[in-house]
Amino acid sequence: MKRLFFVLNIGVFLFLLGTILSACEKDQNLNTKLPLQPISDSKDVITGPEQVKIGFAMDTLEEERWLKDKMLFKESVEALGAEVKIMAANGDDALQVWQAEKMISQGVDLLVIVPHNAESTAAIVKKAHQAGIKVIAYDRLVKNAELDMYVSYDNEQVGVLQAQTITSIVPRGNYVYIGGAVTDNNAYLVKKGVFSVLQPLIDKGKITVVFDDWTKDWLPSNAKENMKLALEVSANQIDAVIAANDATAGAVVEALEEQGLAGQIPVAGQDAELAAVKRIVAGTQTMTVYKPIKALTETAANLAVKLARGEDVKTVKQVNNGRIDVPSILLSPIAVEQSNINDTVIADEFHTKEDVFRGQQ
Ligand code: BGC
Repeated sequence: MKRLFFVLNIGVFLFLLGTILSACEKDQNLNTKLPLQPISDSKDVITGPEQVKIGFAMDTLEEERWLKDKMLFKESVEALGAEVKIMAANGDDALQVWQAEKMISQGVDLLVIVPHNAESTAAIVKKAHQAGIKVIAYDRLVKNAELDMYVSYDNEQVGVLQAQTITSIVPRGNYVYIGGAVTDNNAYLVKKGVFSVLQPLIDKGKITVVFDDWTKDWLPSNAKENMKLALEVSANQIDAVIAANDATAGAVVEALEEQGLAGQIPVAGQDAELAAVKRIVAGTQTMTVYKPIKALTETAANLAVKLARGEDVKTVKQVNNGRIDVPSILLSPIAVEQSNINDTVIADEFHTKEDVFRGQQ
């Protein structure tokens, strides 16, 4: 009996000890989850709430610019003391929705999205909102959704700069327009900007557009097929080409090269990709449009972290996406020609002088 009493007592003691230890453990967990309180004025003390997690759902990493966006966005978010998860969907709509859902389920506090498809990504906004998460559209607008914010460049102005540069060199003649992807709202905005400059000249009979088509998924291979067709239908009678970006401009130059015409016909692009800037130096591309990506990533990261922390953010501009007026920030693009390569992309360290002039005669 005595022995049984002793065993029971030991049991009760061990149970109590276990309970106390596990309570301590729980307390510790709680403490790490709670917002940290300032304990001194020292700069090293973290005074903000729990570290926020931002999800970055990208369309593609195919073009040079998106690799920069990825790297610089990560740097910008981390510089603000937040964490970032990044996924890229390789131009696959269903995969992009899946990846966004995955990040939502992994507990991101806010989603930043570069939509492959302006319309179908509205489903992501809906799902994020159901989970209490806000969504920022990055570079490309999400259409027909209750989007929280849109951060991009003035994409219409991109087209205006392209057309102004090319029409100042070729005020009359046959023009080819190689557009972007129909699934991307930016492709429409750039085209709108281009034709705002071309149309008055078309109306005056100075310019004739002999070919004008979109490029499925922005793929250079599709742009090249378009350019070959343009050359064919016009019997090579082309005086200028405006391409929606540098990847498609590169394909245009290839098609011109095959006809021995590269360097003879002005070509415009956008993005200031290294290959394009090198073509400008070599004289096979006339201009590109430089969009300082660091400014975009910093703006987007700042807004993302603020919104994720529940802070109020106001913008001067609003862009209608077919459903609502989305609070927006649009940065300014810059035209780059041979004459200002040094003062723009090189001065900004977007590319190094060595890279730009390497291998050039
Ligand atoms: C971007 C361009 C990019 C294109 C293809 C557009 O939405 O604004 O900078 O070249 O997508 O990825």
